Amino acid sequence: MPLNIVIGTQWGDEGKGRIVDLLAAQADIVARFNGGDNAGHTVTVGKRTFKLHLIPSGIIHPHTMGVLGNGMVINPTTFMSEVDMLQTAGVAAGPERLRISHAAHLITPAHRALDQAQEASRGSAQIGTTGRGIGPAYTSKATRNGVRMEDMLDPYPFADKIKRHVEDINKVLVSMYSADPLDAVTVGREYEHYARMIAPYIADTGSLVHTALKQGKRVLAEGAQGTLLDIDHGTYPFVTSSSSTAAGVFCGLGLGIVPVCDVVGVTKAFQTRVGAGPFPTEVFGKTAERLRGSGKNPWDEFGTTTGRPRRVGWLDGILLGYALRVNGVTELMITKLDILSGLSNLRLCTAYQAGDEIVSELPLGPGRLEPYEPVYEELAGWDEDVTGVRKWSHLPEAARAYVGRIAEFCGVPVRRVSVGPERDQVVDVSS
Ligand code: IMP
Repeated sequence: MPLNIVIGTQWGDEGKGRIVDLLAAQADIVARFNGGDNAGHTVTVGKRTFKLHLIPSGIIHPHTMGVLGNGMVINPTTFMSEVDMLQTAGVAAGPERLRISHAAHLITPAHRALDQAQEASRGSAQIGTTGRGIGPAYTSKATRNGVRMEDMLDPYPFADKIKRHVEDINKVLVSMYSADPLDAVTVGREYEHYARMIAPYIADTGSLVHTALKQGKRVLAEGAQGTLLDIDHGTYPFVTSSSSTAAGVFCGLGLGIVPVCDVVGVTKAFQTRVGAGPFPTEVFGKTAERLRGSGKNPWDEFGTTTGRPRRVGWLDGILLGYALRVNGVTELMITKLDILSGLSNLRLCTAYQAGDEIVSELPLGPGRLEPYEPVYEELAGWDEDVTGVRKWSHLPEAARAYVGRIAEFCGVPVRRVSVGPERDQVVDVSS
């Protein structure tokens, strides 16, 4: 079947961009189905590093068509600046290659202001959102007060609609959060301008993807965020506001339940999280500094969207097993194995403990992690630099044993591991 899905199995930032880049070489359509410009996908091609937040990262392959599905929330400022960035880098990004669903919702400056005001008012209970207006945009959608991309097709009523939308949110900003109101007329004019530029990109992308699948074309669905940030299946309330798991693909692209070829789950060789919320295997001190990196390299553990240092820890096999189950993952890719070189021993969380009780399954999912301490299995580390390795058999024995143990523990085959950020720094486990 021609539909493949790439999903993050952690709290986002697993390195999905690079496997998408790899698989997009064989795809006709690359499609995002959830989230907005809260995502940050980094792809390194030779000396060039592309940081994309909204446009599917598979667009870097010149033969693909990019789709932004109805499950997304679109910030037109980000969209147009990514289009400009791609065109400047010589990647065509006009309407002949990129389509946005007419049913995707718009993010406005009012959503962003509300996101920031809500976060500030949460005090010590902050979620640590990206401040990009994601939650408020999905709130507008769910309360049926949203503005959709199709509204842009008629610029004059659209400008008026945006003005009324901003005025409505202004009331909340002022009365509930004592925040400054936005100038509704200015925002209306700004968005009228975007409407003219973006209108040619708007289409019924559900029909486009459906037709492509029927013709046997290959579609790659590119997940944003990760399973543990999913609105239903994540570490609620420390989650994003969309469906970032594999089932979200069907609804977020406007497809029926069509057969899927592979659901590729991506996990780092360790665990990271940006923003607040429980993190049982989190580490601090020297090991944390080692896993996080200094921030000098684009691949160090600092947020692509916000620049915030990521929290880091040992790989959590319990959460990974859960993510593989809720996504129906058929194969696993492990990224950043090279970062573990030089650690004398490694830890893999294989159970949780609360008092005398030891569990290997989460009794109520990941929303209630606080009572648990991780139970670790210790594994041998390796000293060798593995960034130059391209064959599985050339990896140090301890590295192969670590990967093998993850696959065995989770019951899903690992097909690839990455050993650096470059396109070719991937080792096929069958090599
Ligand atoms: P929001 O999506 O901006 O509402 O943020 C909600 C939570 O999801 C926060 O903890 C963010 O840090 C996190 N988050 C959102 N998008 C990403 C992402 O692409 N990678 C990692 N974390 C993310």
